[in-house]
Amino acid sequence: MRFFLNSFITTFLVVPLVACATQEEKVRQQFSLAQTYMLANISPSNGLPGSILASPSIWEPNYYFHWVRDAALITHVLVDNYTSTQDVLKKNLMLTRLKESISFDRIIQKTENLSRGLGEPKFMVTGLPFNDAWGRPQYDGPAIRATSSIMLAEALESEGHKNFMNGELLALIQDDLDFIALNWSSDGYDIWEEIYGLHFYTGMVQYRALTDGVRYFGAHGDLARKNHYQQEAQKLAQTLERYFDKNRNRIIPTLRDARGTGLKVSDLDSSILLGVLHGNSLSVDNDALLNSVETLREFFAGFYPINSNSNHLTLTGRYPEDVYDGIGMQSTGGNPWFITTHALAELHCQLADEITKKGKLEPKPGMNAFLKPFLNTQHMSVLEAGNAIVDPQDVHSVTTQLRSRGLEYLETTILFGGKEGRFSEQINRKTGLQQGAKDLTWSYASFITASRACIKNLSF
Ligand code: NOJ
Ligand code: NOJ
Repeated sequence: MRFFLNSFITTFLVVPLVACATQEEKVRQQFSLAQTYMLANISPSNGLPGSILASPSIWEPNYYFHWVRDAALITHVLVDNYTSTQDVLKKNLMLTRLKESISFDRIIQKTENLSRGLGEPKFMVTGLPFNDAWGRPQYDGPAIRATSSIMLAEALESEGHKNFMNGELLALIQDDLDFIALNWSSDGYDIWEEIYGLHFYTGMVQYRALTDGVRYFGAHGDLARKNHYQQEAQKLAQTLERYFDKNRNRIIPTLRDARGTGLKVSDLDSSILLGVLHGNSLSVDNDALLNSVETLREFFAGFYPINSNSNHLTLTGRYPEDVYDGIGMQSTGGNPWFITTHALAELHCQLADEITKKGKLEPKPGMNAFLKPFLNTQHMSVLEAGNAIVDPQDVHSVTTQLRSRGLEYLETTILFGGKEGRFSEQINRKTGLQQGAKDLTWSYASFITASRACIKNLSF
């Protein structure tokens, strides 16, 4: 019996390892393609150096703009690229791109615009303002930009660079943080540019920016700034508590729908997951987070016909009531998105890391549905009885499966990327064909970030 068990375990272990290699290989290949396509959307020839296209699409939809939120997330990837390689040529290439991006960001920080400040969501790639009607202001972009800029400043300083670009990087950081410290409690449009009010996503990235600022200015002895950001961060933290709906054990996306759109009856939205991933202050094993994510995933699994295909994992979209089809509003409903599906991949891999770090799996009732696919009945009854899973082998088995599931989510979007591995914004919920803005820069950036969470030390 013992022998039988051993040989069973060996076979069982060998198979997934082989499967893992090809899984990883596919993700690595797409990682390089995503880098190439992402970089191709930076500094277009008819724009200023450092401008970043949301997508090269100029018609149906016109995404030929520098969107502050998208661009800041892409800058984050450029900084990761810079810090993750020792190759001097590649490092220099990234530094050139980053310098250009800082110059462009300084220009648009000063461009007069209809939001009358840093809350303007998008600019022309020439640095000129976009003066048509739009959901403005939006307060998440400057926060993400501050975080990416501080990451860069810290990386450069650790390599001995001082007073980078004659203080322009520092000025960029200060202006963004001062703006956030002043405006975090004001109503603005959400990440999806539809609801005017106060939003979890925006609050989470603002909180991260302020606390990054506390660390950065604290380390540089600027106590006035440090204290100011700290005070605002503490107040913001209290507001963020209010997004936790204790009755439903969920995180809600919007605290105040100031103009009463009543759009999100479900109170479910992938933006809360993005907020946790981009905000980096809430532990990913949070009960309310995992319960919200699993409830939403289950909804999308049944809602999008494409998900009835058993060849792939659940393609997820923005939120149940979504009707944006990539060009306009269609009563037929929304579609799965690349960025939200990549976020699920990232979550699984970050959760694997978190559990590994803690060395155990603690019982939390809201987590059980999310974790079910990774637990055997014995594990499940341990958790259900209110005990932790502590046996290193059991913990390892769960984390290995979580990481593999993360990679499988990436394989899922690769499946819809076609032969060239290109990603648009959406995937048609019936046909599986790509839809909306072509070559969406953020679709590539989110693939890169998720790959880095699932495969360690991926250099570009
Ligand atoms: C374009 C925005 O970018 C998108 O997020 C939104 O759903 C539509 N406009 C409709 O407001
Ligand atoms: C629509 C998305 O809703 C928004 O978040 C994004 O910034 C723009 N498209 C540009 O990609």
